[in-house]
Amino acid sequence: MTNYDAGDVLTVHGGTPLNGELRVRGAKNLVSKAMVAAVLGETPSRLYDVPAIRDVEVVTGLLELHGVKVTRGELDGELIFDPSNVESANVDEINVHAGSSRIPILFCGPLLHRLGHAFIPDLGGCNIGGRPIDFHIQALREFGAVVDKSEKGMDITAPDGLRGAKLELPYPSVGATEQILLTAVRAEGVTELRNAAVEPEIIDLICVLQKMGAIIKVHTDRVIEIQGVPRLTGYNHRPIPDRIEAASWGAAALATRGDVFVRGARQADMMTFLNLFTSVGGAFEIDDAPGTGGIRFWHPGGELKAVAMETDVHPGFMTDWQQPMVVALTQARGLSIVHETVYERRLGYTAALNQMGATIQTYRECLGGTPCRFGRRNFMHSAVIAGPSKLHAADLVIPDLRAGFSHLIAALAAEGTSRVYGVKLIQRGYEDFEGKLNALGAHVELG
Ligand code: EPZ
Repeated sequence: MTNYDAGDVLTVHGGTPLNGELRVRGAKNLVSKAMVAAVLGETPSRLYDVPAIRDVEVVTGLLELHGVKVTRGELDGELIFDPSNVESANVDEINVHAGSSRIPILFCGPLLHRLGHAFIPDLGGCNIGGRPIDFHIQALREFGAVVDKSEKGMDITAPDGLRGAKLELPYPSVGATEQILLTAVRAEGVTELRNAAVEPEIIDLICVLQKMGAIIKVHTDRVIEIQGVPRLTGYNHRPIPDRIEAASWGAAALATRGDVFVRGARQADMMTFLNLFTSVGGAFEIDDAPGTGGIRFWHPGGELKAVAMETDVHPGFMTDWQQPMVVALTQARGLSIVHETVYERRLGYTAALNQMGATIQTYRECLGGTPCRFGRRNFMHSAVIAGPSKLHAADLVIPDLRAGFSHLIAALAAEGTSRVYGVKLIQRGYEDFEGKLNALGAHVELG
């Protein structure tokens, strides 16, 4: 493990329960999209409670490349975006961001509206499946955009402007729904989107767009109707809290037999997680005091119970909650079953848990739930976890953001000293996680 600098390696002396409190801020998967939405406004936008994470830095860089002035406001976590001078960015400079994030694809609609053309580099993001963008491209074409693939990425133009369309997604993709919202709000006429994603982060993005002057109706059965408007203004917005980070710390409390109060976590966005948390034998308590409230997660003692779970689109159990929770399931008595139905390759990280003493077997079949898109396609997307297992320390290399956090939880739960390589990936989505770990009594140090 020679090619990691000291700031990218965390030494974890495990075996100590996490105890204490921390605070989560605005949801990464809303904040980054709201930042892109600011490009659509004719006046500045203001976003509060923005976490200091790497993905925010990446989107800030992309906004600045396109002429948006990004400044800090007076409050901690307040960012102001001034889009008065939106301009085309140098293709090579945008390409510097290729591989670091999937957000560039969402600039298509806003840049087409503002400049008449957009360039999108080859996309990166977590390595958890094929992560195609065919739904995005198809939708952009139906709005009237012309998409040309070049060596460096995609050139997109709209020679005849963008017009509303009747669209139906083959699967309720979060990113494709956001693409369609960010394009339809200023397209001419009405867009009707069927089979839309309705995650809380999507609804919060709709709130942002409504503040900007967009007219969006969310109907029943995943139908969203957008009436295009000629212009939008800036917004002032306080994002929903990060329910993925909150659940990650909840799972960490359970796996380490600890007790963690996650200030800022909101029950309404986490009901499915809380149901499973209780079924496994974890305990939680909601404090809904305005401003100071949150959710306390703890291990009440005794043994955890095996469960069968299946990830799904909202309101199902989030795919991003799966990896942290599986670490806790290694401590449950019996056979737990996990069926991952959102990403086809999101169980690879279990090999590292096995290396630490867990007993997890992955399967190509759809186990424990309804058959999914991946069932007959040769993807290892189900797992059986036999527990409880005593975890021991190991050297671990982080494969992606959420799997990385689960490696970290496993190292915290294990006896002995582990070294976790590639922790900068965790900084993509978890603000100051080393500081938070220290505050919870974990024995960790960088290097
Ligand atoms: C978002 O990814 C999140 N990322 C993911 O979180 C999250 O896991 C995911 O939604 C599901 O909730 C961000 O918000 C930045 P999708 P996204 O489009 O939008 C298939 C994290 O760690 N699909 O809903 O890229 C796709 O392959 C990240 O914070 C197509 O086939 O996810 C997948 O199987 C990881 N064609 C499924 O849809 C397309 O054009 C869902 O993907 C688009 C998607």
